[in-house]
This record gives sequence, C-alpha cells and structure tokens, in this order.
Amino acid sequence: MQGIAVLDAGGQYCHLLARRVREVGVQSHVLPIDTTADQLGAVSGIIISGGPRSVTEPDSPRIHPSILSMGVPILGICYGHQLLAATMPGGVVKPSYSREYGMANLQLAHQSVNGIFAGIPVYSRVWVSHGDSVETLPNGFEVLGSTEDCAVAAMENADLRIFGVQFHPEVTHSEYGQHLLGNFVTHVCRCGTHWKPSSAEAIDAIMADIRTKVGERGNVLFFVSGGVDSTVAYKLCADALGQDRVHGVYVDTGFMRKNESDEVMTAFLTAGFKNVRLRDASAEFLSAVGDEVEPEIKRKQIGMSFLAVEEDVLEHLPKGEWLLGQGTIYPDTIESGGTKESALIKTHHNRVPELVRRIEAGEIVEPLSQFYKDEVREIGRALGLSARLIEKQPFPGPGLAVRYLCTNERADWSRHAKLDDLAASCGLAARILPVRGVGVQGDERTYAHVALLTGPYHESRIAEIAPVMTNSVRDVNRVAYWVDGKGPLDEFHVEPTTLSRRGLDLLREADAIVRDVLAEYDTQKRIWQCPVVMLPLTRNGEATIVIRPVESHDGMTAQYAKLPLELLERLAGQVLHLSGIGAVVYDVTNKPPATIEWE
Ligand code: XMP
Repeated sequence: MQGIAVLDAGGQYCHLLARRVREVGVQSHVLPIDTTADQLGAVSGIIISGGPRSVTEPDSPRIHPSILSMGVPILGICYGHQLLAATMPGGVVKPSYSREYGMANLQLAHQSVNGIFAGIPVYSRVWVSHGDSVETLPNGFEVLGSTEDCAVAAMENADLRIFGVQFHPEVTHSEYGQHLLGNFVTHVCRCGTHWKPSSAEAIDAIMADIRTKVGERGNVLFFVSGGVDSTVAYKLCADALGQDRVHGVYVDTGFMRKNESDEVMTAFLTAGFKNVRLRDASAEFLSAVGDEVEPEIKRKQIGMSFLAVEEDVLEHLPKGEWLLGQGTIYPDTIESGGTKESALIKTHHNRVPELVRRIEAGEIVEPLSQFYKDEVREIGRALGLSARLIEKQPFPGPGLAVRYLCTNERADWSRHAKLDDLAASCGLAARILPVRGVGVQGDERTYAHVALLTGPYHESRIAEIAPVMTNSVRDVNRVAYWVDGKGPLDEFHVEPTTLSRRGLDLLREADAIVRDVLAEYDTQKRIWQCPVVMLPLTRNGEATIVIRPVESHDGMTAQYAKLPLELLERLAGQVLHLSGIGAVVYDVTNKPPATIEWE
C-alpha cells in the first residue's frame, strides 16, 4: 500500500481526512484502527483519526503497537492525539476540567519553518471537540501549541517524527488546517503531490490489485445497474482481466425508472461491453419485498434477492472460478456501518450480511471501495466511458423500492408548539407528518418524522427555519414544504400501503416528469441528484409525491437545492395531472440531518 494510511477511530470526520490528503495530491486509504505494520506495507505516513470514545475506557479503540516501530511519520488527531499520548511511555490522558467544543485560539510555542506548523502563524483559530486532554507529555515529546483550555493542543517528537494535535485540521473551520495536513504529507512524509484518482499510475494500481485479487484463472460476475459506480467498476475489471473473464447481468428488479432498462442496455452495447445480459427478475423482487414496511428489512430483502439471482446466473455461466464484482464506493461502506467503529445509517444493497461475510472471506472484488463518487466519475472519464454513462445522477441499487414509503398503520397529524412558533415567525403553519424517514445525526441513524410547512413560499425564510426545526424537535429529522394538492391538507391521511406494481408505475411516471422538467431547467447541472418519493399520505386513494433535489459533492453531505416557486408550481402542476397522485411536497432538508433518500 502506498501513500497515507488514515486509521479510523470512528470519528465523524475520518473520511474527510482521507479526502483532504487526496486534495493535496497524495493517495490515502482509510483502514481499521488496529491495522498492523505488515498490513500497512510501504505507506509513507499514518494519520490516526478522531473518535467518539475516551482513551481512558479500557475497551476503547487502540492502535496495533507494531505501527509505532515502522519508522514512518505519524499524526494523531483529537482521539488519535490522545491515543498516542496514552500509548507512548510517560504520557497521561485525563478528562479535562473544562470541555472544549467549537472554535478555540491556538497559540504556537514558536513560529516554525519545518514540521507540521511550517509557515503557520503563531496565533490561529482551530475547531475543537473533546472532553479528555493530554495531561503529561510522553517521553521525548515537546509542546508545539496550546489553547485557552488545553495546554497540550499540539505535540511533537522530532526524532520519531510523531505528532499529535487536539484540534481538527480536516474541518474547514480550522483556519490553517489544510495547510497543516499539506505540511505533514509533503514536508514530513515527503510524498509527491501528483496523485490523482484518474492518473495512469493510479488506474494501473487499481488494475494490478484486481489481477492479484482475482488470480490467474478467476473470472468476475457483476450486477451492472447502468449507474456510474458499477459501470466504472465493470470497465476496470474488463480492462484489467480481458472481456472474456468478466460477465455482467443487468437485473430488471421492477424498481427501475421509466425506460431505464432499454437505455442502459443500449449504452452498454455502445460502450462495447460484450458480456452483459438482461435478466427480468421483477416478479421475484416484488414478492421478496411483499408487504414489508420497515426500510431496513426492505433493503435487506432486496440485497438477498440479488444474491438469489446470482446463484441462478452462476449455474448458467461457463464452469470455473467466479468472484462477485461490485461497484461499492466509500460512502456506501461507511453508511452501512462497514468500517469497524462507524454506526449503521442504512444497509446498502451491496452490504447485506451475507455479502459482508464474503467480502471478509476475500470472495468479492470491489475496485472502487476507497473512492468517492466524483473520483469515480474522473476514473470513468479517463477510461474513455461516455458522458452519458458517467454524468448520470446517482440512482440507488434498491431503486424505486426505497422511494416508495410503506406503512401498515393509519395515522393522524400532530403538532408541536416549537414548530408552530417557528413557522408562525415567517407566516407559515407546521404539522408533524405521521410518516417517518431516515436521517443521520451526530454519527447515528435516526428514523423520525417530517415537519410539513404550509403557507406562502418564501425561499430564504424556509431555508432559515428548516434547520432550526430539526435541531430543536427531537422527533423530527426532515422538513418539507407543501407545494400543491388536489384538496386541502386536512383531507389527506396516512393510510396502510404496501409496494405494488401499480404504485411503482405511478411513481415511475412522476419521476419521469420531474426528471424531464429539471433537465430543462438545470442546464448547469447544479442538482446532483433528485429522488422522487411516494408517500402513503392520501386523499381519495391518491398518494403524495416528494421532490428532493440536492446539491452535493460526494453524497456524504448535501444541501437541498433551492428551487424558485414558479418551477415548483410547474413541477406540481404536471405531476398532479397523473391520476393517482393527490399532492406534491418539496423536501427542504440538508444532509445531515436527513439522508438524501427517505428510506
Ligand atoms: P443517502 O440516502 O444515504 O444516500 O444520503 C447517499 C447516496 O447513496 C445512494 N444510496 C445507495 N446507493 N445502494 C446504492 O447503490 C443503496 O442501497 C443506496 N442507498 C442510498 C443515494 O441514492 C445517494 O446518492
């Protein structure tokens, strides 16, 4: 392994550290906290991330002692800084007298011309979030900087090239954070800064890994969805191993968008993918989800249905050793609780337990598992794939099934005084919609209600109160604005609903309308993705459609895309023409606190 290893102590910002290092032009990998020196191989440096635990707890995450004798530079951040102090001889970590959260003033012991603080002024602002502090330095360390409440805010052992900082340089609020990380990887670790995920060197390294993993005689079977990730992963494997050793199955799950199957198969043909076949499994998938209403169970049932199709497909492939290829990218792994210390937000279809077992047993090839969506697009471009395939908006593997909210309850609206006050402050009314959606708050999954705003549309006021609502009312993780309906809100009720072909067809039509209108409006491609979701909020049997346009860089965080009223009304007008749709609402929540998808 080359570049920088980021050891994951479970921190919310661990993935950001890896990104920041890549932004400097240096390759980075996120690995479990207890990775050994042998597993790290030839890395040039190690960063130990922050984490939610306290090093004073006996079962808190620990580094493997072997990494301390590798002789490569190490930088500990927050929990990582404390872990270094607690692990190295002489160091002591204790709960602080006063906890530090938010901004702090860092004062350096002196101005440096080398090391991690080279070129950074003596006074700067940093972002901190910690309850413990390093009380006694480990032997051979000196203090590089302090804040008001933390005497050892930065430390160094120059001989061992081991550093620790109590603050978070990866967070943009730390004024010179990126500068510090740049110093660590370039001055201290002496990494060159020409790495790009799409450089010939990086792509050769991915392909070499594929060849090693698959071996001389192995073959790879992919489920290709037509999405960016599986297409790029397939192409990498086909280029690395030769077309004959890589086969693809495009499964029509019945949860695809309008005309998607035809368009995808045509695009594959054009891209020259020789061995991709279509398999219609819509009946199997629909019956696997059945009457299930819980999002996590639906997701797992869909993941398992893919595995059932795989078994069947394998029987008809040429005899030989077949591995399963997947286009999993890094955010899928984190959100599925797939890094050792991270929490489960939602089980992605390629992270059901049986697949996790196979990944651990080395039976699955995932060439993109360390990359982010924007990097995957770059790699795809470098491989010569067409813009049509590369610039597509992301579409989740479980497809429309996770955009079709189901319930087995009849439920009524409720109100909350705090929501009423906030809404009234800008001339709106708020009710709690008795439907729940998935969110991600403070590193944890939430499954909570939606506040629905009604009244005159005022873009900036709605943008202001939506985050206050989700911050102040525990049981609300999402806010939506009522655009229009075929009757007044009072006539709408949550009714028991389960997945049906008819409902899916209706959702497909609504999705196609929204896609067409937005494609015409969003010529700059500002909208990263726009899920269209169906809610069991009905009037005379007609359901509600949610429009959820978001802007994002990599799907890990997102801002809802602000749309003008005229466009919202146009969208609602066209969607409400569909018989079976009774209302249209517009999701105005960022991620966090809500995830991009509702389930
Ligand atoms: P969330 O809803 O977690 O979505 O904010 C982040 C990105 O991931 C996509 N997504 C999935 N992709 N399988 C996938 O291939 C899945 O199970 C899955 N769930 C969410 C989502 O569309 C968004 O782009």
